[in-house]
Amino acid sequence: MCRQGGKAPEHTTKDTLMNHFLDIHTTSKSDLRQMIDTARAMKQARQSLPKGTPDADQPLAGQMVALIFEKPSTRTRVSFDVGVRQMGGQTMVLSGADMQLGHGETIADTARVLSRYVDLIMIRTFEEQTLHEMAEYASVPVINGLTNRTHPCQIMADIMTFEEHRGPIAGKKVVWSGDGNNVFASFAHAAGQFGFDITFTGPETLDPDDKLLRQVKSLGVDVTIERDPAQAVIGADLVVTDTWVSMHDPQSARERRHNQLRPYQVNSALMAQAKPDALFMHCLPAHRDDEATSEVMDGPNSVIFDEAENRLHAQKAIMRWCLGL
Ligand code: CP
Ligand code: NVA
Repeated sequence: MCRQGGKAPEHTTKDTLMNHFLDIHTTSKSDLRQMIDTARAMKQARQSLPKGTPDADQPLAGQMVALIFEKPSTRTRVSFDVGVRQMGGQTMVLSGADMQLGHGETIADTARVLSRYVDLIMIRTFEEQTLHEMAEYASVPVINGLTNRTHPCQIMADIMTFEEHRGPIAGKKVVWSGDGNNVFASFAHAAGQFGFDITFTGPETLDPDDKLLRQVKSLGVDVTIERDPAQAVIGADLVVTDTWVSMHDPQSARERRHNQLRPYQVNSALMAQAKPDALFMHCLPAHRDDEATSEVMDGPNSVIFDEAENRLHAQKAIMRWCLGL
């Protein structure tokens, strides 16, 4: 059984429930909540175990996971690899450029071939269309490890992190300062699914695109846009930023982006306008003292390394959900 994949798989080796994890807004609220709960329980269960030891439960025993990267990665690569091993499975990390995929083989053919070898595919790619084609033609679950448009695994870890520190995120105020990019898009999707308010503050030229704003409106989310960052963060429970130049952005735009985004740097003066216990998040990698100062990143309200750790736990829960385990 396959959910979200569009057409029926052309070949399947097992009759277990199969879910693709492609985006936050296309996954049900109850499944998202179940994944966060599972992630917290699995994290708790490992509390006293050394990092390299297997989990007591081995749901991925005998399973092979392909991790495909068409862009660089530290956290996504290592956290998926470690997570699969902790759950008893094996991984192969594949660079898109080294595969025939990078030399003209179609996504559809790649998906059908990989499905004959592996039990689960995680892909980090450029165009959203590539992810959707992979899911359409694969007969195993596909996980979105970041596209130019979204980064849902990151936001699952971020929701988990917020709730660990501050309790339920429903009804809270989240303020994004900077570029209206792929990580922002998944935060906006999550606002609908988890029921929090979201405010964007940044220059008009780097606003989230209309397609995203229309999409989240249909989820009942009205993104508040406020040009003045000091005004935007008033009452914020969480302040978030990200790099000013994403991996898919042309380097030629770097200087222009920096000039436009400098007023939106998250520094101590900006954090002082938010609630006193407002958390600070950044998905990393960061350019210290550009989008956020080291003072904020290393300050008492920063949870950036908890976010990075929780990628591991959240993705383990996502993989279990994908495989119906
Ligand atoms: N946050 C995140 O996805 O980091 P990587 O690019 O290192 O995977
Ligand atoms: N917006 C960033 C996120 C990196 C994890 C990028 O796409 O490069």
